[in-house]
Amino acid sequence: MTEERRRIAVLVSGGGSNLQALIDECAKPDSPARIVLVLSNNADAFGLQRAAKAGIATAVVNHRDFPDRSSFEQAISRELAARDVEIVCLAGFMRVLTPGFVENWHDRMLNIHPSLLPAYKGLHTHERALADGMAEHGCTVHLVRPALDDGPLLIQAKVPVLPEDDADRLAARVLVQEHRIYPAALRLLAADAVTVDGEQALINGRPGPLIWTDAD
Ligand code: GRF
Repeated sequence: MTEERRRIAVLVSGGGSNLQALIDECAKPDSPARIVLVLSNNADAFGLQRAAKAGIATAVVNHRDFPDRSSFEQAISRELAARDVEIVCLAGFMRVLTPGFVENWHDRMLNIHPSLLPAYKGLHTHERALADGMAEHGCTVHLVRPALDDGPLLIQAKVPVLPEDDADRLAARVLVQEHRIYPAALRLLAADAVTVDGEQALINGRPGPLIWTDAD
């Protein structure tokens, strides 16, 4: 049974709360996915400790040890190949990846982003949503394409923006939803429930993204 599970690597740079959600999901007996590697560019990333605690292999590939992006990515690729990784999950991985690397993982690499894409690509998403007076904000899991925060959308979770919200409070509520939709999206991809038509994700044959609310 274990051998039938898709082999997952999670790339993290920091705290790894989304990694933890993925670890917890993959610990379920019926999970179609198994995390075989947690890789970080930062030796101090708390995510590495989360992985070690769960008995998952870890690797550190520090971008500062390499002369350029391409040699850094080649080192990452060697780690992924050594573990026969089939699907890559970016979970707060704070390095921009080159188009060549991204295309190697076409439709096999997921990212979580703290906005309702295509709105608010890039950083400081909560501050920007508040500054614009948005009534609704949220997060998105998507397949990764070379352009920043671009690619077919699998699941989005919406949260209302409340009158008393500041960026921290809004971020905390969005993060709760991130921890729900990332494991769900990985499960769909690992179970072969995702196809891509043009640049639209189909989930079990129906146009994505799935939309969740915090009431779901
Ligand atoms: C999350 O906000 C995620 O959306 C973004 O980076 C953050 C990572 O947080 N891509 P964590 O390390 O998973 O706690």
